[in-house]
This record gives sequence, structure tokens and C-alpha cells, in this order.
Amino acid sequence: MFYPQEIISEVKSLNDIVDVVGSYVKLSSRSGNFFGLCPFHNEKTPSFSVNRDKQIFYCFGCGAGGNVISFIKKIENMDFPDALKLLAERVHFNLPQKGSGEQERQRAAAREIAAKTNKLAARFFYENLTDKDAENAKTARKYLEERGITPSLAKRFGLGLSPDAWDGLLKNFPDLPVEDFEKSGLVKKSEKNEARHYDRFRNRLMFPIIDNRNRVIGFGGRVMGDSDEAKYINSPETALFHKSECLYGLNLAKKAHEGQIIIVEGYMDVIAMHLHGFANTVGVLGTALTTSHSRLLKNAGCNTVILILDSDEAGIRAAQRAIPVLIKENLKIKILNLPDAKDPDEYLSRFGAKNFAKTLSQAQSHIAFQIDLIRKKNNLESMEGRVAFTQECAKILAALPSEIEMDAYATEISKATEISHSAIFKEIEKIRGVTSGYSPEPRTYILKKRGEDIGLKNAIKGLLNLVLSDSSAANALKKSECLSSEEIGGGIFGKLLVLAFKNTVNTPSDVFDLFDSDEEHQTIAEIFSDTKDYPSKDARQKALNDMAKKIKLSWLKSRIETERNDTNAVNSLHFQIKTINSLNISMHDG
Ligand code: UTP
Ligand code: MN
Repeated sequence: MFYPQEIISEVKSLNDIVDVVGSYVKLSSRSGNFFGLCPFHNEKTPSFSVNRDKQIFYCFGCGAGGNVISFIKKIENMDFPDALKLLAERVHFNLPQKGSGEQERQRAAAREIAAKTNKLAARFFYENLTDKDAENAKTARKYLEERGITPSLAKRFGLGLSPDAWDGLLKNFPDLPVEDFEKSGLVKKSEKNEARHYDRFRNRLMFPIIDNRNRVIGFGGRVMGDSDEAKYINSPETALFHKSECLYGLNLAKKAHEGQIIIVEGYMDVIAMHLHGFANTVGVLGTALTTSHSRLLKNAGCNTVILILDSDEAGIRAAQRAIPVLIKENLKIKILNLPDAKDPDEYLSRFGAKNFAKTLSQAQSHIAFQIDLIRKKNNLESMEGRVAFTQECAKILAALPSEIEMDAYATEISKATEISHSAIFKEIEKIRGVTSGYSPEPRTYILKKRGEDIGLKNAIKGLLNLVLSDSSAANALKKSECLSSEEIGGGIFGKLLVLAFKNTVNTPSDVFDLFDSDEEHQTIAEIFSDTKDYPSKDARQKALNDMAKKIKLSWLKSRIETERNDTNAVNSLHFQIKTINSLNISMHDG
């Protein structure tokens, strides 16, 4: 996050959440709160609430929640800086240039130039392609036709044609500085004569790459027909273009407003998918999947990803590498091995959309995918093979947050190996005791078990609400050293506790700006949406003590579970449980 908190707070204070939300959702007021139909899920009776005092929204139906910036992010499918910009523009507030250092300003200027130049170039390429008379335009249109790309589809993707000449692009813009084209990666300096420049893309079918803000950030260019040259050339890295941080077609895919996004490998695959009605498709441009990609997907409202990668060795490795990256952003993952075709484009043109949809519905969960790979590595005919297979699978199952899911897979593995269900379970428990696997949340298992206790959950939320809105409660709890961030549940709960102890938050709405993910915003909104009115300070103090004790007790009990083989540890935990009742957190002194 690069804007200082003062600026963010300023923009928020100028944009009342009721007004902003009210321009998207019809709100009516009821006992101080505003209610309306939730724009983030389908409903007939309003469970979407907006609170003017706290400047937050929360949907009791789907759990969506946040402050005014989160609302814009979610409803406009924008990232944080863009949402902030929209809100600033709404009230004519001038945001400072990012970072505002000299270097940053130069980079911002370079990005602006690249965006402007790319846009001119894209329009020029498009006009070339639609030229009625030019020979190479006819060839290009014929090539598109052969590949099933209709003119209207070509238009939707802004496809174009680069001139069949050394400097056709440059010649077309004699008044613009060559440097602008160079900075955009569209022309290169001649190696023999530094004063001469030539077009990077010559006689290629041009695919403009468009970002979330509808800027043309770069291009891919394909040779048409057979040639010795590289099949595709892409724009080089520029101030604006970072190949591993963009997804081809996301600008269109996010308009499909589906929680599920399909990831394919190539330009042509994305376009073919659109042609056949799968508009929720994006392409990674021949790079590995990165955290930036997962963030882009998240911001586009995606919760499930279907990976369709090449079914060769490289594709399988790519899928394996992609799994932890996507899991980190809490995305659900399915993997599809396309049968009988090298890529979705080929599959669609051979077997059609109906068959594709059927295959798509059979995409495997990433767990099943990984188990299959382990199965292929081991010989299940032999005892050693079955043991090794089961042990490796247990590692994967140990990281699963859902017990039901885990049980289902364990049962299947048990059937395949004839190793008892309970032995597999014990193995998993052992692994969970020592490691958290690649699960994003350490101790997920314990948390999950504790998390099933609704009373406990309410205590955690109630306590966080109290300490985040009452600094004397926060100070008292901190001084008592009764609860650590791990003990309160780790993850977002732990972070919020640390934040309360720091005593630097002013309003509920500010808390949201310190966290990025949707899940975190939902939890924070849930916590703030349920504020108790304690009649007195004593009542607040009693509630604080009760909730803290409940949480601590549950933590100690869960520790006894995990430490059950260590007698000393268990004894000490039992002792701590006994002393809990005498705990007295006082809000009156200090
Ligand atoms: P593919 O070779 O699978 O291409 O590369 P494709 O998309 O199926 O294209 P067609 O159907 O042959 O026209 C997948 C992706 O890898 C990148 C491109 O992004 C391409 O879409 N790539 C491939 C390159 O960047 N350069 C290349 O030379 C080849
Ligand atoms: Mn292809």
C-alpha cells in the first residue's frame, strides 16, 4: 500500500458510505441502520446493512463486508489504488502522485507515455487489419477465418496487423518522438546503426494485452502460417508491461461476473473459449503462475480457478507449482487434463462447446490431481509402493482444512491400498502435529476444531470488537498477558489482537485498510457489525473477563489434545486450566 493512511482517511471521510453505496443499492433506513438488497448475492429480502456511524457495510446473508473502499473494490472489480482513485475523483480530491519521489514520478510518466503510445499503435494495427485493399490484410483476415475467428470476435479483442515493413509503425507516426515507441517496446534500435530504429513486430497478427484500467499495456504478435521465426513475440518488459503480472483477457473475463475463472495457456485459447461461450477465461502468457496473478483473480471476484494446462510433463509441473500459489490466496483449484487435444482451442474446434462443457464439469480437485500423480509414481502392486503412496498422500490430506473432504479421500486411499482407515488417520494426525504443510494457516486443524464451537467464535469476535473500540479494555488485556495472537486463533484474529494492543486504530473503517483480502474484510465486518451496548464499565469489564477466559480455556484444552504424549506438558496445562478462574483483568487501574 503506497498511499499514507492520512490520505486514505481523508478520501474516506469525504465519501460517506451511505451515499456511495446508495448510488448502487436502494437503501432504506431502519433504526439507525440502512438496509437494502445485497448486490453481491441474490436475495429477495434485504440482509445487506450499511452503518453510517461506523462507516461500514455488512451482509448478514453472504458475509460480504468492509468499508467504503472495499465496497468499491468489490462492486467495480478494482484493486485498492483504483478504488481509492475513483472515490477521490468522485469528490474532486487530488491524490498525490504515487510515492511522489522523483524516480517514482519518472516511472509514472513513462507508464503514461507507454499507455498512450500503445493505444495509438493498437488502433493503427486494427485499421491495418481491416484495410479493404492491402494484400497482407487480406492474408491476415483469411488466416483468422481459417482459425474460426469472426470479425466481431477480432474486434472484441482488438486484434490487429503490424505492417510488413521495417519501420511501418514509425513511418505512420512521423510527429511522435521515436523514444516513446522505444519506451513502449514497439521499436528497437538497430545494432549496426544506433541512430536507426525498426519495428519490433513486423507482419504479425497483433494481440493487444489490456489491463484492469483498460490500458493497452503490451502486445503479443503471431506469425501467420509457416515460418522459421518465433511463433509469438511479446512486448519486452517496460514500465507498463510485466508479463508475469498480467492475465490476457481478464478485462473481458471479469465482466462475466463468475466466481469461477478458467486459466489457459495461450492467446488463441482465450479467444476460442470466448467464441464458444466461455467468457470467464484468461491466459497466462507462457509464464508460471505468480502471486500477482492470484491477486488479480481475487480482485476480479474469482473464488475458484480451473487450470487447463498442456497435458505434457511441463504442463503438469506448471500445475503443481501453481497449486500453492493459488492456495495462498484462498482460491479453490480444479485441474483439467484435456483429453485428445493439445489445447482448448484445438479441442473446441474438433469437439465443440457442448463436449467441452461436459469435460469441464469433470475437472479434478487439486487434491485428486495430486493423489493421481503420486499413484503414478508408486507401484501399488507392491507393499513398499502402497506404503510410500499412503505416506505421501497423508502429507497432502493433512493440509486440508475440511475434515469431511479429508475423510473422503482417506477412505478412497484405504480402499486402494487396503491400509486401514485408522492407520491413515493416525499418520495424518502425526503430520499435523509437527507441520502445517503448505496450508496458509498454521495449526488449521486445531483452529478448525476450536472453530466449530460457536460460543468460542462469538467470544473471539466479541472480545476483538471490545478491544478494538475501547482502548482501556485493550490496555487491560495487554497488561494481563492472558491472550496471545496464537491463542485467540491466529490468522486474522491474531492480527487484529496485535492491532488492538498497538492502540493506533481510530475507527472501525480504518481497520479495513490494513488488510487486503476479501475473507479478512468479511471477518472484520462481521466483528464490527455486532457491537454490544454494555450498560456500564463494570459490565464491559465482566464481559472482557468472561470472553478472555473462555478463549484461553479452549486454547489450553486444544493444547492438551496435541501434547497428549508429553506428560509434563499435559500436567502443566491442567495446572493452568485450574488457575484460570482466578484471572482478573482490571480496566480500572492505569
Ligand atoms: P502455444 O505454442 O501453445 O501457442 O503457446 P497457442 O496459443 O496454442 O497458439 P497457436 O494455437 O499455435 O496459434 C502458448 C503461449 O505461450 C506463449 C504465448 O503466450 C502463447 O500463447 N508463447 C508461445 C510465446 O510467448 N512465444 C512463443 O514462441 C510460443
Ligand atoms: Mn493453440
